[in-house]
Amino acid sequence: MKVRAFGTAKEAARAAADAVVTQLERKPASVLGLPTGRTAIAVYSELVRLYRIGVADFSRAHTFNVDEFSGLAQGDVHTYRAFMHKHLFNRINLPEAHRHFLDGSAADVVRECERFERAIASRGGMDLLLLGIGTNAHIGFNEPGPRLHARTHRARLAVDTRRANASLFGGRLDKVPRSALTMGVATMLEAKAIVLVATGRSKAVAIASMLTRGISTRAPASLLQLHQDVDVILDLPAAEKLPQSWFDAQP
Ligand code: GLP
Repeated sequence: MKVRAFGTAKEAARAAADAVVTQLERKPASVLGLPTGRTAIAVYSELVRLYRIGVADFSRAHTFNVDEFSGLAQGDVHTYRAFMHKHLFNRINLPEAHRHFLDGSAADVVRECERFERAIASRGGMDLLLLGIGTNAHIGFNEPGPRLHARTHRARLAVDTRRANASLFGGRLDKVPRSALTMGVATMLEAKAIVLVATGRSKAVAIASMLTRGISTRAPASLLQLHQDVDVILDLPAAEKLPQSWFDAQP
């Protein structure tokens, strides 16, 4: 794993956006996996800026969002689908038919998850998967626990995760769905390259448990240690619990 710590959150967001743009330059028809969240907003606003100045071109790309709340209708303003349109898709040249989402309102969840897996596979798999991380080291909505699911599935959300998402629901924890659909960890590990971005002190413990303690289902992000091409992009507060010796050991 490559780990880089930048002076500010903005620089970290820029580095992540650069990784996306480099991927699109190398392969304009890239398949991207995309997250939501506060960290992603900063990366997306940088991508919008790069698109506006003619540096980024999404016209041939396809995107798959990593997760979606269960039980919300597709048009609901609280969906991650709506989040993506607001923060990125309405502001770049990604064709509508190239934006792929899980449908959290699907009546047949198993079928919906299988459809999503097949859709990723039929496009040749993800070339680049961009991820954030939860304060409990979740990725997508793969929460810490005694076991993890390999494939796209419905996950029960931890209270901490629901609390972290409450701002999307006007601060009302009771309005945050109790479950969500998410790519599984094996789905994620099949991406050819992974970029994980984390900023702020609130992520420091999660980053340390991801990188320094071996692999554990209690820290789902630690499973990324199994992947051969992961770029971890941090700001200094998110890196503060990593020992300096750990950076020195990086190739
Ligand atoms: C949510 C999303 C994750 C995201 C995480 C971090 O729970 N399901 O995909 O990585 O939040 O979000 P933030 O960047 O807002 O801390």
